[in-house]
Amino acid sequence: MNKRIFQKELIIGLSKKHKTIPSKYHYDLQGSKYFEKITKQKEYYPTRKEKEILKKISTEIPKLFEGKLSYIELGSGAIDKIKLLINKDVKYYVPLDISLDYVKKSVIKLKKKYPKIKIKPKKVDYSKHFKIPNLKETTKVYFFLGSSIGNFHNREEVKFLKRLRKSINKKNYLFIGVDLIKNKTILDKAYNDKKGYTAKFSLNLINIINRNQKTNLKIKDFYYQGFYNTKKKCITGFLVSKINQNFKIGNKSISLKKSERILVEISNKFTIKSFKKLASKAGWSTKRVWLDKLNYYSLFLLK
Ligand SMILES: C[S@@+](CC[C@H](N)C(=O)[O-])C[C@H]1O[C@@H](n2cnc3c(N)ncnc32)[C@H](O)[C@@H]1O
Repeated sequence: MNKRIFQKELIIGLSKKHKTIPSKYHYDLQGSKYFEKITKQKEYYPTRKEKEILKKISTEIPKLFEGKLSYIELGSGAIDKIKLLINKDVKYYVPLDISLDYVKKSVIKLKKKYPKIKIKPKKVDYSKHFKIPNLKETTKVYFFLGSSIGNFHNREEVKFLKRLRKSINKKNYLFIGVDLIKNKTILDKAYNDKKGYTAKFSLNLINIINRNQKTNLKIKDFYYQGFYNTKKKCITGFLVSKINQNFKIGNKSISLKKSERILVEISNKFTIKSFKKLASKAGWSTKRVWLDKLNYYSLFLLK
């Protein structure tokens, strides 16, 4: 983590009328572990539904692409899903993630299972410009799974997809996991698991801020609140202050009133139509869309 950039982004976010912290800062080693726990909770359907779709399409992959393949995964996390699509044509696998220490552990296991695949993990912040390693003579297939496209604030996802479109050669592809609008009760439960891992995941941000900014914030002075905002069609996750408190980030004094909220997580939900439109606005054409049996979740193949 670049402490200077973190400090700058914290000051910007915490100086706003409606305070925010970018969600990418959740992912230190502990945060990544909590996220993995979340994906295993019964209420958290996105991981199960996306895997259901990936299993279904695994037999179609050899018919979709020609020649040797490079899989490039943005925000790969535990590298759990890509395994479902690995076949003899895959020559390179490049997991890109902000939480590289966490990814590296999974890479060791993957190397043992697939010794012939060249695996090249890299630390990147995909919200900024990034470069991929040289992957000669292969069709590049990008993956952006786990509904991460929903995590952009202020509809920054169009800018992100535009930037990706410009940096990817027209011959290459992008698989993108898109969570769909559904019943509020299902969504509220998914982001408030009974065991409290979603809350722990968000509250862990307090530890990350203390460690990197020499603050002395207390987890007990905050609670997590997450719910689906039907009007905005997104999940909003907040850290809510239980008390009036003041602290400093660098030289900037920040005050939080009792019950004041910091927006720490957003997860936009889409319809097939709205996402197709968004992708097209960013210069991508939709080649295929797959759904799970309950139509909870979708996987888009863009070119
Ligand atoms: C929602 S999780 C999804 C993980 C995995 N792809 C899945 O489907 O379960 C987001 C992943 O992206 C990574 N991540 C979040 N923001 C990032 C950023 N700006 N740049 C690079 N990686 C990021 C996190 O470390 C985490 O592994």
